[in-house]
Formats: sequence, C-alpha cells, structure tokens
Amino acid sequence: MAGVPLEPIMQGQKRFSFRGWQARLIASRKFQKWAAQFPITRRLVRREGEALFDLLAGFCHSQILMALVKFDIPTILMSGPRTIDLLAAQSNVPPERMAILLRAGTALGLLKSRNGKKYALTRTGAALAGVPGLPQMIQHHDVLYRDLADPVAFFKDEVDTELANFWPYVFGSDVDPAIADTYSELMAHSQILVAEDTLRAINFSNVKNLMDVGGGSGAFLCEVAAAEKHPHLTLFDLPQVAPSAANRFAQHGLSKRTTICAGSFRSDPFPQNVDAISLVRVLYDHDDASVRNLLKKCRAALPKAGRLIISEPMSGGVQPERAGDAYFALYTLAMRTGKARSAQEIARMCKEAGFKTVRFPKPMRPFVTTCLDVSVS
Ligand SMILES: C[S@@+](CC[C@H](N)C(=O)[O-])C[C@H]1O[C@@H](n2cnc3c(N)ncnc32)[C@H](O)[C@@H]1O
Repeated sequence: MAGVPLEPIMQGQKRFSFRGWQARLIASRKFQKWAAQFPITRRLVRREGEALFDLLAGFCHSQILMALVKFDIPTILMSGPRTIDLLAAQSNVPPERMAILLRAGTALGLLKSRNGKKYALTRTGAALAGVPGLPQMIQHHDVLYRDLADPVAFFKDEVDTELANFWPYVFGSDVDPAIADTYSELMAHSQILVAEDTLRAINFSNVKNLMDVGGGSGAFLCEVAAAEKHPHLTLFDLPQVAPSAANRFAQHGLSKRTTICAGSFRSDPFPQNVDAISLVRVLYDHDDASVRNLLKKCRAALPKAGRLIISEPMSGGVQPERAGDAYFALYTLAMRTGKARSAQEIARMCKEAGFKTVRFPKPMRPFVTTCLDVSVS
C-alpha cells in the first residue's frame, strides 16, 4: 500500500477519532487513486462513484419523470410503441428535444427502443402508468420542488413554503370546500396502495365498528368494506370533507353500512360505539402536541378490547431510510406542522396515551406505508 496516507491526522482534535481518520483517508485523492487501481477495491470505488453521481443527478431524474408524466407519455405508450415524431407532435415539443427526453427516460429504465426511432414502455414504465395515484402525485411535486429550490434557506427555516398553504387544515383554519376536494382527491388516488398494504398487515375480521378518523373521502373504508363483510364503518373528518365521503359511499352501495361524523378531532367529541379506530396518513400531518391529544382522545373513545390502527410512511428512526427520512421527512417539514416519526416513537406516544400493547407488522413496502396495531389492553 505504498503511497496510501494511513497516518491518523490529529489537526485541531483533542482525541483521536477512528471514524474521522477513516473518512479523511477515504476522501484523500491519493487513497482514491490507489483504490481505483487495486483489484479488490476497484469495483467498490466504481459503485460508490456511481451512487454519488446518482445523488448529484437526482434532480434531473425527477424532472425527466415529471416531463414524461406531464406530456402523458406513459399513458400514450400503453397502446403500443410510438415514434419520436408522433410523441413530439402530440406534446408540441420539437422532435430533436423529444428525442433527448425519450433517451433520458430510456436511460432511467422507464422506456425502451430497438432502433432509437420508436419507443415503448419497460415494465417499470408500465407500472408508472398503472400505479394508482402515482402520476397525480408526481405532478403535485412541482409544489415541493419550489419549496426545496433553495435547500439552505429551507433547512434554515427561511422559506414561506407553498405546501403549508396546500394543506391548510393542519393549522386548524377554515378550509375552502373546493380546496378540500382537491386534496381529498389527491389522497384518494394514492389510497389504494396504502389500503392494500394495511389490509395485508392488519386483521380486521373481529372488528364490529371501525371509525376512520381523518378518513378523507372514504377511500380507505371502501377498501375495508370490500375485504370484510361485517364491520360497520364510521368516517370522521372535517365538515368540508365529509360530503365527498357520502358520495363515494353511495357510489359503492355502502350508505347503509356507513356513518359519517363531520367534525374536528381537536374540538368535537368522538362517538362512543366503536371498537376500532384507524388513523391512516393522519399523524404525520401534525405536531407532537396535536398527536398526543388525538391519541388520548382515541384511547378514551375505545372499550377495553379496543384497537387503534396506525398506517402511514414512517422514519427509520436510529436507522434512517430513504423513503421515510429522505422524502417524507422533507415533505412534512415543508408542510410546517407535520413530522415523519419512527414506529418506535409513535408506539411510545401510544403508551403515554394509555394504550398497553403495540404490534409491529413487517411493512410490505415502507415507501407506501408502515402499520402499527395498538391495543387498549
Ligand atoms: C393526509 S389526509 C389523509 C386522508 C386519508 N386518511 C388517506 O389516507 O387518504 C389527512 C386527513 O385528515 C383530515 N383532518 C385534518 N385535520 C383534521 C381535524 N382537525 N379533524 C378531523 N379531520 C382532520 C383531513 O381533512 C384529511 O382528510
């Protein structure tokens, strides 16, 4: 290992830190040059280089995805391969620029082409078109990207974020019913996957009356109704949101099996006849004080054999992970009152609120949701 700087560097440090020394060693040009040539480390260096480059290019990747979705290219290609000229004409983009976008989509694994003239969807591209709510979520991200445009100002809390205004209910303000409809629709589109994973993780078969607090336009309860014949289903949400649930329940023939309670969980009482409560993508919208109050209120409304089901994307806690900590944590920070919490953190809050046991089913897709099954006794 001639020429590799292995001496610990002590500059300005009182105690020797092995990790600090290791980081300085790996960062040194001499070490990198040596490792790039040495047969055992060569592949590792290449992989690390690619991973760093992917992080650097991540913004371009997201914008390519956004452009493909905004031009509706995944949907168009669902009918079969199309030429550059046709896609360019349909999107009103010069063909030579459309060719660049299509090659970029190919490089990212969304598109494929045999001859560089006609393009088709790969399996991932087809999934993009088919995953419920994904195209809508991607388009909605323009708001998040504007909030993150200056990340230094963002982390210093110097940005008046647009997302805070997009989700006005978290501040307890009056919500315009038209705005309420927009965000309820956005949530409902992406609810199918969340409901799928929640229903796989949680057994609802013994539940008699399930109340979905913050249940939006009722998309989750409709999925529960399809999976379980028996429970009565109660939806609790703000008065501006509740009417859209009545429509959805009527469309699904569920009007008799459902009850809608319009109110705020901050100030209005919960009904006392439910034996299970679900909070699906609700806690991460709110600050700790609001979450503590809500959990106490759920505990008070449940009988001894009662259960609380929590389902939302979560932080990895001491082992941060990509979806919870490098996406949802930033999204909820931009909302200004929200917070991505770890399963352990939420379980602790549940116990403080008076719940006794918490089960942690293994999440199928942590980027979709993680569930906690919490019992009163
Ligand atoms: C992120 S959305 C989740 C909707 C639905 N559970 C889902 O996963 O699609 C949060 C929901 O909480 C509701 N909500 C927010 N504050 C509330 C409050 N104080 N009382 C009742 N519902 C509230 C909102 O109206 C919205 O429907």
